[in-house]
Amino acid sequence: MLLPGSTIGVLGGGQLGRMLAMEARRMGYRVRALDADPGACAAPFAEVTVAPLDDVDAALELATHCDVLTIETEHVPAAVLAQIETRREVHPNAAALATVQDRLRQREFLRRHGLPQTAWAGVDDLPGLERALQTIGRPAVLKTRTEGYDGKGQARIGAGDDPAAALAAIGHAPAVLEAWVSYEREISVILGRGRNGDIAIYPVAENEHRHHVLHITRAPARIAPAVAARARELGAAVAEALGHVGVMAIEMFLLPDGELLVNEIAPRTHNSGHYTLGGCVTSQFEQHLRAICGLPLGDVTQPRPALMLNLLGDLWLDEAPPLAHILAHPGARLHLYGKAPRAGRKLGHVLVLGDDLDDAQAWADSIVG
Ligand SMILES: Nc1ncnc2c1ncn2[C@@H]1O[C@H](COP(=O)(O)OP(=O)(O)OP(=O)(O)O)[C@@H](O)[C@H]1O
Ligand SMILES: [Mg+2]
Repeated sequence: MLLPGSTIGVLGGGQLGRMLAMEARRMGYRVRALDADPGACAAPFAEVTVAPLDDVDAALELATHCDVLTIETEHVPAAVLAQIETRREVHPNAAALATVQDRLRQREFLRRHGLPQTAWAGVDDLPGLERALQTIGRPAVLKTRTEGYDGKGQARIGAGDDPAAALAAIGHAPAVLEAWVSYEREISVILGRGRNGDIAIYPVAENEHRHHVLHITRAPARIAPAVAARARELGAAVAEALGHVGVMAIEMFLLPDGELLVNEIAPRTHNSGHYTLGGCVTSQFEQHLRAICGLPLGDVTQPRPALMLNLLGDLWLDEAPPLAHILAHPGARLHLYGKAPRAGRKLGHVLVLGDDLDDAQAWADSIVG
């Protein structure tokens, strides 16, 4: 067990690293982070080694000061984790990260373990894409195998769309073609898995995206108890098959017939789990620390329904951000990440707890428009 006083190393110093570091500091841990930007969001709460995430030497040097290491983004080369692993414990491990950070390998992993997913095919070039469209059909969505986030590196191919244009739009990178899913709801399962294999699953959350970016999360999700139970079962199966240690998110599509398809696996704390920070007894960040440090997992009880609204840079661009309006809601808890405003950039989020979340939803919509 790594008790408070130990040093946690985080590869990446973005908002997830920042909130992890804040929770770690509260609990009495020390935190070091690796980030190319000395002004990274985590910097006020962690000692930052300034180097890009693919700098093996810098990562190994950081590791010498740490008792355990983790990631806050899956865009850390698995090869860097493999090197660190020879000297220190790292969660997730290099093999798990390698499986998840490549969409094709992630899809193969789901197939190997018999987990439900949309139809898909690997694509390397235009003839390959045309063959894949024959089997997958349209509409479909072409996604780069690596480096994608917030819908970047994706192109939808509808009935009249030119496959060559879709390939060009994602930069001719190796890709996966997925059948488009007409889902009823998007949900996510956030869970923590300990070093001893214990699993604690948070109440299932439902997510609303705008322009492929998470807009609102509501928890618990407005889904039938049997669907929630199935989602939890699938989430736990993914975590076990991956041998994951720490917090992770499993995004799923709920179909109109009640079936669930796994959309995406994130082997780290997740935007749709932010509601747990303030909304649950143990936040996803504390849970992640508990898991990677070998402590008992914390209580995932959620006393009241929660709504989380992401605040994107767009709110800051034209005029003063509507912070007074946001704070006028008596229950609003504001989280800002200390980032410079830029369109589409996640600058913070607001959490509201309450028994009537439809009111909170209307208020959230009045902020974002
Ligand atoms: N096959 C699909 N059918 C319908 N909608 C889809 C499909 N794939 C993706 N989407 C939509 O686009 C969103 C983003 O896609 P996805 O989660 O695969 O990519 P991402 O860019 O890696 O996102 P994230 O920000 O979660 O890392 C999904 O949450 C969903 O709203
Ligand atoms: Mg996603």
